[in-house]
Amino acid sequence: MKKILIINGPNLNLLGAREDQIYGKETIEEIEAKCKEKALEKKLDIDFYQSNDEGKIIDKMQEVEKSYDGIVINPAALTHSSIAILDCLRSINKPKIEIHLSNIYSREEYRKKSITSEGVDGLICGFGANSYILGIEAISKLIYNK
Ligand code: DQA
Repeated sequence: MKKILIINGPNLNLLGAREDQIYGKETIEEIEAKCKEKALEKKLDIDFYQSNDEGKIIDKMQEVEKSYDGIVINPAALTHSSIAILDCLRSINKPKIEIHLSNIYSREEYRKKSITSEGVDGLICGFGANSYILGIEAISKLIYNK
């Protein structure tokens, strides 16, 4: 079975409790469970990873080239600042999708620029927890070409 890595950046461990009017009421554990269900349907194995530490996220992402068939990433606030994550994405020659719960283009000016999306195949944002599900569907199409 093909295997993908789903990465979650800083503060996403607080989902459900944090600004729920923007990010929804579902916890990260509930989102992970939904992702596992969708991945199974798409015949994908997933590893679901969250860290508040940019270095740990990059260490994990560096495993993709060797051990995974693609990556779905919600870099959270690092989206708007991290050239290190962009560089890491550019080093990965596998399907790559960026996702966000909120529509980053309908919010504050400083969220309208995604540095990291310059290193991915496509971007999905604004669908709440469903952005994760759409991300899995999109990457499954890129991996299996159907
Ligand atoms: C986010 C959007 C980011 O701007 C923000 O910093 C987050 C979450 C989202 O999923 O909507 O932490 O990535």
